[in-house]
Amino acid sequence: MGNFPLVLNQINKSFNDGDKSIKILKDLSFSVKKGELAAVIGPSGSGKSTFLSIAGALLTPDDGNIFINGKDVSGLSDFQKADVRLHSIGYIFQTSNLVPYLKVEEQLGLVLKMANHNTEEKSDHVRILLISVGMEHRSSHYPHQLSGGEKQRVAIARAFANDPDIILADEPTASLDSNRSAAITGLISRIVKKKNKAGIIVTHDEGVLPFCDRIYAMQDGQLLEQTTKRGTNNESVQ
Ligand SMILES: Nc1ncnc2c1ncn2[C@@H]1O[C@H](COP(=O)(O)OP(=O)(O)OP(=O)(O)O)[C@@H](O)[C@H]1O
Ligand SMILES: [Mg+2]
Repeated sequence: MGNFPLVLNQINKSFNDGDKSIKILKDLSFSVKKGELAAVIGPSGSGKSTFLSIAGALLTPDDGNIFINGKDVSGLSDFQKADVRLHSIGYIFQTSNLVPYLKVEEQLGLVLKMANHNTEEKSDHVRILLISVGMEHRSSHYPHQLSGGEKQRVAIARAFANDPDIILADEPTASLDSNRSAAITGLISRIVKKKNKAGIIVTHDEGVLPFCDRIYAMQDGQLLEQTTKRGTNNESVQ
């Protein structure tokens, strides 16, 4: 399991709809390797976000196991799960979810503070992260002063701030035009490769797929790997 920071085994999840219980995930098993970016596609309502929330220890399955860096988190308390999330997982959402009243550099500083990162190194670390996403020139800006693509760049830097082994992105390009979408996906893909992270992108955006190593479709509550490779990593995208 050492090469697989994230392993899901036989996950089931149902939600109640009135007095009916609807099964969304059915005996779903999935894993992602270090240095690999996986895409998850599928119709609206098929369970992609539910899967990602369970993979990120944000939502508890009805049964099944989730191994994060080899550790079974299924039986952990909420407090223990929060600790695993803080240190092992970076999240990127459809909208950047930046804190409106914090400057760009403070958004990252907050994450480092929560994880008790060494204070002296903090400002250097923040600067390096912002350089890696091409946003160091906006470090004193507030979110409302940034474009959609710039906000997503900051959100990516924030997701990688604690050096998590797993990066989970739920429709990170949904609010962007196709050029920005390619730039953002290229950026996620490059950082995943360079830092040897395991990444998952849930997407409706076909333009994301050429950047991904594997493509899975959510179908009848399970993730099925698609055999047709849609493209190869495009390293030239900035
Ligand atoms: N907390 C909840 N309570 C009840 N039903 C839920 C809950 N969360 C999700 N569902 C239902 O589970 C199904 C799967 O939802 P999910 O958000 O995982 O779909 P999705 O594939 O991400 O869809 P989309 O592409 O629209 O984002 C939907 O029918 C949704 O209504
Ligand atoms: Mg969703």
